Amino acid sequence: MKIEPFEMERYQSVYEYVVEYDLAESGVHPFTLRELLGHDDAVQRFLDVRLGYPQSEGTPELRETVAALYPHAIDDNVLVTNGSSEAIFTSAWRLFEKGDELVLMQPNYQQLWGLAKTWGVKVKPLVLREDLGWQFDPEDLKQLVTKKTRAIQVCNPNNPTGAIMAEAQRKALLDAVEDAGAWLLSDEVYQGAEREAGETETLWGPYEKTIVTNGLSKAYGLPGLRVGWLVGPARTVEELMGYHDYLTLTPTMLSDRLARLVLEKRRRREILGRTRSILRKNYPALRDWLEAHGTLFSHVAPAAGAICWIKYAFPMNSTELVERLRKEKSTLLVPGDMFGMDGYVRIGIGPPTDYLVAGLDRFDALLREMKAGKAR
Ligand SMILES: Cc1ncc(COP(=O)(O)O)c(C=O)c1O
Repeated sequence: MKIEPFEMERYQSVYEYVVEYDLAESGVHPFTLRELLGHDDAVQRFLDVRLGYPQSEGTPELRETVAALYPHAIDDNVLVTNGSSEAIFTSAWRLFEKGDELVLMQPNYQQLWGLAKTWGVKVKPLVLREDLGWQFDPEDLKQLVTKKTRAIQVCNPNNPTGAIMAEAQRKALLDAVEDAGAWLLSDEVYQGAEREAGETETLWGPYEKTIVTNGLSKAYGLPGLRVGWLVGPARTVEELMGYHDYLTLTPTMLSDRLARLVLEKRRRREILGRTRSILRKNYPALRDWLEAHGTLFSHVAPAAGAICWIKYAFPMNSTELVERLRKEKSTLLVPGDMFGMDGYVRIGIGPPTDYLVAGLDRFDALLREMKAGKAR
């Protein structure tokens, strides 16, 4: 079967470890295993973990710990996966048939868009509008939803804009899925990575046909653990386990064990506190840099996520711009093209501040050279 390429993931995979400054990453600076385990006793206990298969849906302890994050959820509502990307794939594989309609927030993490294209699902973009602070217009949603709508998918907080869905949009969304009897798919992997606001409220709870996906890659700074999960109606989760049997079977025993430690109440609070302090320190560094360029750049301040979605005011294709920066300055960004929106770039604000500033200096150098080249 031919697939729709997942351009951003391919691009990052090829170059993220090759460039000197990777500002394409969308999570905060990852923890080391030593930082996570903390003290010698924990290290010793970890060395004694027996490396068998865990339960394919995740250990009961981890499923209960995840369930406790969601109102009225129990372990039967939870399936643990390898990254939230596997949770998204598993649910989409179960839900969609060729010819179905999917209303999909745009811009967005493009995984579901690519899968839908591959499977012959009709994608109807629910456009986030810059003039609305990257919210969608509830009227647009009404126009898009029909009786053929199988699901409405949102990414909240959103990648790449960093916007958190406002109350009016949340209500409109819940009304729309209910009216259509459609599934609500909510990618919440940036929940907990809010810079100023409190933790983004999950969409799990008010409407039965909801599947929420999340994991430890972004807000928790642990993408290398590959821990994700989905939360859904118990009967659906049981079915999805059968789909998961055709994928990676189980999480790894080590990841399952570490995830339990991370999600323990106090530890979780500390980890998300670290994330917030990184964002509070780094966003002003990027904002000052952008402002120093006057009208060359504009952006809506991201409310969440270690990302900033930036519009530039010069006539150059975004892939061309990002490729020049990569080749000439060994610095990686994500071009707007990879989110279907030319004229923008995504810059990651999760790394150590001096690394971020050094990467921005490289961008500056390119901009100066481009300007000089133009004047010549
Ligand atoms: C919005 C969003 N959802 C899901 C994922 C998948 O991440 P993971 O599989 O590491 O949980 C990403 C990764 O960038 C993302 O940005």
